[in-house]
Amino acid sequence: MSHARESSMGLSGWAKLLRVFVGEADRIDGRPLYERIVETARTEGLAGATVTRGLAGFGAHSRIHTASLEVLSIDLPLVVEVVDLPDKIDNALARVGPMVREGLITLEDVQIVKYTHRELQPLPADRPVREMMTKEVVTVRPDTPIADVMDLLIGKLYKAVPVVDAEQHVVGLITDGDLLRQGGLQQRLSVTERLDQATLAAQLDEMRRAGKMARDEQSKAPAAFITRGPNGAAARAVPAVTYGRIIVVYSPKGGSGCTTVATNLAMSLQNEETSVALVDGNLQYGDVAVFLNEQSKNSVVDLALRADELDPEIVEEVLITHTKSGVRVLAAPSRPEYAEDVTGEQFSKVLRYLRKLYSYIVVDTSSTMTDVTLAAIDTSDVIVLLTTQEIPAIKNARLFLDLVDVLDIDRSRVLFVMNRYDKRIGITPEKIGDNFKQEIVAVLPAEDRVVIPSINRGVPFMLGDKSRPIARSFLSMTEVVRDRLTKLEPIDEAV
Ligand SMILES: Nc1ncnc2c1ncn2[C@@H]1O[C@H](COP(=O)(O)OP(=O)(O)OP(=O)(O)O)[C@@H](O)[C@H]1O
Ligand SMILES: [Mg+2]
Repeated sequence: MSHARESSMGLSGWAKLLRVFVGEADRIDGRPLYERIVETARTEGLAGATVTRGLAGFGAHSRIHTASLEVLSIDLPLVVEVVDLPDKIDNALARVGPMVREGLITLEDVQIVKYTHRELQPLPADRPVREMMTKEVVTVRPDTPIADVMDLLIGKLYKAVPVVDAEQHVVGLITDGDLLRQGGLQQRLSVTERLDQATLAAQLDEMRRAGKMARDEQSKAPAAFITRGPNGAAARAVPAVTYGRIIVVYSPKGGSGCTTVATNLAMSLQNEETSVALVDGNLQYGDVAVFLNEQSKNSVVDLALRADELDPEIVEEVLITHTKSGVRVLAAPSRPEYAEDVTGEQFSKVLRYLRKLYSYIVVDTSSTMTDVTLAAIDTSDVIVLLTTQEIPAIKNARLFLDLVDVLDIDRSRVLFVMNRYDKRIGITPEKIGDNFKQEIVAVLPAEDRVVIPSINRGVPFMLGDKSRPIARSFLSMTEVVRDRLTKLEPIDEAV
């Protein structure tokens, strides 16, 4: 039997086929097991991996995995198959084996009849700019009226126009964002394109009356490249995407203060450098907008239904801005029955998309373990787990921490916080922390006279006097959250 060879065309001859049978719901470190297996196959440099989902089956514990029962559909059988040279398979097996705590692993010899792949194109970083650039460039002069610039951009694919002087030297650039920030454009161009003619004409008239010119709005100091320069330099001039962090505020006991904490946390994280999106994940009876004295005609449902085709414009349209702080808010639907339209998967996709646009995404949740709550917890970077000094709340916190272990969520992602603390009550944060082996990292005092009026007025207390005890405790909690987030691994996965 001749062995497999690796040629420039790929594999040929005899190789090994590794099959791993797992359940779709199996997780490791809070992530789907099959994803980790595929990832391991990739990092071990294997030729490829295929995951197939079965329709039904049962495993060692006769737990039936089936697609026909809605309730069990999250735990269908999965088979991960990998074919490669024996020594590569052995290396992968050494890493994958310990990951599979319940399942089946098989190994067999296979003969490769044909395996080809397209040669991967090297990154075009060394190819000159001239080969990649758009050639028909529309330019404007510094004294071109802004209304004309907008006229030019509408309906064209261009996202920006260079501003050139009399010698055709680039002196600036006007983008959609420049027009929006300071040029009098009231919505992004992609939205503008969809306006009716009358509204569009009225906006253009308004711009003409304001009499602004290209030089007033252009971004100064644009990056410019010579045509024979390398593309790599041009690529480096485009800032890398940095992903925001998702903070889920959760309590397994209703009324423990999730909405109070989530709204105030959003206020204290927001500043000029860090933008915050506050998401109401309590889809049935969410009251984030009420806590902020805002109203929103759009909601999570509007984004969830387009979860696979989100873009910054849609997000811009659906989120509202909290006037007093600038925090962006994704409100809950106006009626409880609309909550049913949102699946956990969609909610998770929406949160992951928001990461591209905001530095922090703070999610308020309901205490009921719905699919949406689970998805939020699963997608989060950290979970602020609230308890009070009441026994039912403490009991439920313990149950939740057990669930955290079952779900394989790293306990360091849980920030255990005590809310409505009253020092006259003997149940101390230290005692609970010791008992549950989960330290309480922040304590927020009970201050009815501050919290209740702030909720009733719709003004979070973190926008008021910061010297009050509750505000000071809140600031320390915010620091703990920030600190924990900075210790996390950077996010490098594509969404
Ligand atoms: N630190 C605090 N001091 C005093 N009262 C507080 C404090 N935190 C929350 N409260 C009060 O607790 C009540 C419940 O708060 P909140 O609505 O934020 O909880 P929740 O967990 O979001 O509740 P729900 O389960 O209804 O969503 C509110 O009336 C609020 O005034
Ligand atoms: Mg609430």
